[in-house]
Amino acid sequence: MSFTTRFVSLSRYLPVGRVEPEHFTVAAKHLPELQDGQVLLRPLAFSVDATLRGQVTGDESYFLPQIPLGEAVTGIGVSEVVASRLPGRAPGDRVVSQVEWADLSVWPTRDHWLEMTPLDPRIRKPAHALGVFGLLGGLTAYTGIVEAGRAQAGETVVVSAAAGNVGSLAGQIARIRGARVIGLAGSEQKRRILTQKLGFDAALDYRAADLAEQLQALTPGGPDLYFDAVGGAVSQTVMNVMRRPARVVVCGLISTYDDDTAWTVNIKPLYSNGLTLQGYTPLQFPQALPAALDHLVDWVETGQLIPLETERHGLDALPAAFAGLFRGENIGKMVVTTTQAEQ
Ligand SMILES: NC(=O)c1ccc[n+]([C@@H]2O[C@H](COP(=O)([O-])OP(=O)(O)OC[C@H]3O[C@@H](n4cnc5c(N)ncnc54)[C@H](OP(=O)(O)O)[C@@H]3O)[C@@H](O)[C@H]2O)c1
Repeated sequence: MSFTTRFVSLSRYLPVGRVEPEHFTVAAKHLPELQDGQVLLRPLAFSVDATLRGQVTGDESYFLPQIPLGEAVTGIGVSEVVASRLPGRAPGDRVVSQVEWADLSVWPTRDHWLEMTPLDPRIRKPAHALGVFGLLGGLTAYTGIVEAGRAQAGETVVVSAAAGNVGSLAGQIARIRGARVIGLAGSEQKRRILTQKLGFDAALDYRAADLAEQLQALTPGGPDLYFDAVGGAVSQTVMNVMRRPARVVVCGLISTYDDDTAWTVNIKPLYSNGLTLQGYTPLQFPQALPAALDHLVDWVETGQLIPLETERHGLDALPAAFAGLFRGENIGKMVVTTTQAEQ
């Protein structure tokens, strides 16, 4: 059987500057017959990730491959199997894998770096497999706070991009471990959600000119752990007021992705505040991931961990959803679902 599909492709590279939906095009293509080892997937939910920003610069030194111009953008998604020439996968199965941003996607994708796994039967909502239970969501937050950051009860943890996907979960996980948590977020609405809904102890506007003074007032002696999702000037300010010694876990640097002059952090506070600085991804902790997922499922079921999602609908919504990450449009995980996701 042969199929055609609509797909989202990249029209031009953008080394620096603000991503716009116009940098992408929706087109149609014919899919060749499935070969042995291939699976035809119908995506139900697409993960919209800031990490993609590094794949649309044209700079091959990024840790993930560049998206070739005119070809489908790839990312992580939850899909239903339509047809399979891979033993162990059958039509109707639900899986988590890399997918093309398309109505129909052939697995493995062009840039294959993630294994296909069955959707865990405990996960009822496809979007949750990408957010709170996802590799680039809850598992990133968990490994950052527990494995890399080793947050302890009684410590003070500062989280940047705190109302986003990873940050909202990282802050809650630190709270579950008994830490005091201060979130940094860009709007009053987001800061209210952090303190009133997610149990953060305080939330600050990272754009405030007196951010350093506000942090010092809230944490005499300084924070013990900084969970950094943004980098740049905000991170410089936080590192300058940290306790001695203290830890910084670098999850991401979103403030620098559009602006290659934004990396203003100097390492003086590593010396003056005795900081340990560690970058990481959850794949560095493979042995921790099964238990991490068990904890996340348990915390959500018992109401200790609240997943937040900004859900948009349909393939055409993907470019604007991605651009929206850099405008702070999302609260929690940015996800794009298709009609089938509700079935
Ligand atoms: N290490 C890993 O394995 C791993 C895995 C997943 C994600 N990440 C990284 O972690 C970071 C967060 O990812 P996410 O998926 O959780 O995204 P996200 O936080 O859900 O979305 C991005 C948020 O970042 C904030 N933001 C955007 N531009 C900013 C800027 N210039 N300065 C400060 N804040 C800005 C916005 O919130 P405001 O309204 O508050 O500004 C926006 O809502 C990203 O840097 C991403 O690349 C790393």
